[in-house]
Amino acid sequence: MNVAIVIYSKSGTTFTVARKIASLFTDAKINCDIIRLESKDILRPRLKNIAISTKVNLENYDTVIFGTPVWAFTAAPVVPSFLNTKPVLSGKKVLNFITMGFSLRFLGGNSAQRLLDVLTLECGATVIKNGGIISQSSMHNGSKSEAFVKSIFDKITK
Ligand SMILES: Cc1cc2nc3c(=O)[nH]c(=O)nc-3n(C[C@H](O)[C@H](O)[C@H](O)COP(=O)(O)O)c2cc1C
Repeated sequence: MNVAIVIYSKSGTTFTVARKIASLFTDAKINCDIIRLESKDILRPRLKNIAISTKVNLENYDTVIFGTPVWAFTAAPVVPSFLNTKPVLSGKKVLNFITMGFSLRFLGGNSAQRLLDVLTLECGATVIKNGGIISQSSMHNGSKSEAFVKSIFDKITK
């Protein structure tokens, strides 16, 4: 198994989750790389198809985890814009996770999760749906954040 975690993170929370997931794979002697998407565009919520400045090659990965924060009740525009470039995900196992500020999933988490699940399906991936949604307060709770990253690891490796 060769795992890529492809994320956008403005203030570091989604990146922190990605690092915790990656360390579980590394501990299990599974290669896992984090690819942090960037854009030079001025970002606002709900922009469509912004330009991604990061070079991404997913050819050698059989498993891809996407992660995004919620902005304005849906996914921040970077990961959806990347997925709209239609990277080839056929034959790959994909799981999408979401980080959000509020504790209530209907304040953007569910919508972001659905969007990434649909977009990755459209790229031909075998999607493990409802990968996971974590709020800021759960991120600051050691046992909750550990359980969250473990559940993602388990869904991928089971
Ligand atoms: C422009 C903007 C809009 C946001 N809108 C929402 C929102 O609608 N719902 C929510 O729960 N959190 C919202 N948040 C909070 C982020 O989703 C949350 O802090 C996330 O974990 C940040 O991830 P990051 O540190 O990886 O950038 C918003 C944050 C920003 C910057």
